[in-house]
Amino acid sequence: MGLPAHIADRLRLPAIAAPMFLVSGVDMVLAACKAGIIGAFPGNNARTLEVLDDWMGQIARTLPADAPPWAINIMVHRSYARWEEELELVLKHKPPIVITALGSPKAVVEAIQGYGGLVYADVNSLTYAEKAAATGVDGLVLVAAGAGGHTGPLSGFAFAPAVREVFDRTIVLGGAIGSGQAVRAAQLLGADLANLGTRLIACEESLAVPAYKQMMIDSSAEDIVLSAALTGIPANWLKGSLIAAGHDPDGPKDKVAIDLGRPEDGPKRWRDVWGAGHGVGEVRAVQPLGTIVDKLVSEYAAALSAPR
Ligand SMILES: Cc1cc2nc3c(=O)[nH]c(=O)nc-3n(C[C@H](O)[C@H](O)[C@H](O)COP(=O)(O)O)c2cc1C
Repeated sequence: MGLPAHIADRLRLPAIAAPMFLVSGVDMVLAACKAGIIGAFPGNNARTLEVLDDWMGQIARTLPADAPPWAINIMVHRSYARWEEELELVLKHKPPIVITALGSPKAVVEAIQGYGGLVYADVNSLTYAEKAAATGVDGLVLVAAGAGGHTGPLSGFAFAPAVREVFDRTIVLGGAIGSGQAVRAAQLLGADLANLGTRLIACEESLAVPAYKQMMIDSSAEDIVLSAALTGIPANWLKGSLIAAGHDPDGPKDKVAIDLGRPEDGPKRWRDVWGAGHGVGEVRAVQPLGTIVDKLVSEYAAALSAPR
């Protein structure tokens, strides 16, 4: 079954502009859908529920009916106080896709499918993939090794084929996918869609501050540091931002308890320490998101016609 035809037909490239904390907002979602990929943002990027209500209303009103679908990402984790109120707004605005993160999607699947929405669950292991699949979700977002922000430990080369064997609905693969060739490779591994995070952080429409975008341009894969010390969950960070924030450049050592509150409530992770994955080397300039997607589309076309 893979990706439903009514979605595939509306995409220029089989990809999602991945939801990213403090990076993706309304402008990025609209630019992504306009460029022909799925646009997504995390609900907690909206400072208040009133702002979230406004953002979802703007997106729903602006996009034409035949545009690629848009998605909101909601955290369903006990340490995230706002998820039930975010769910109420989801039911009001009916985003075509809801991506759940960091908890079981079980509590939300029925309500979202009830209005015709699709639920994709973010997972970082085979065990979680199987558990999430059992809740009846429409898709799984596989967060593989090398992904920016909270990352999984498994190589996408092993993760996607293993999940494809047991799950016949939509598979999204993320983790260092930064070129059209890599998008095609994800499909060959069994995925239906690629999740593009790191590749899009430096787009003009992103909420990332200019210094973050510049560090993306200046960094290579070797400047990415894996550490669980900032949020309690293993995540990939830009080494330069760790140093600037006074951390050990090889990554802070002590693991902390999981706490997903807003960054201003605690240490300055995310706001001052910047997430990025192994695909950072593909970022060479600050460009409109549409220009980046155009390049990926032509690389993808070249990969489709490559002899081998
Ligand atoms: C700075 C940053 C913030 C992120 N924030 C979120 C988030 O709030 N929710 C989420 O589900 N995933 C988040 N992610 C993960 C992305 O949605 C996506 O899975 C990942 O970026 C894909 O790997 P890539 O960065 O190698 O492209 C974040 C990633 C980055 C780089």
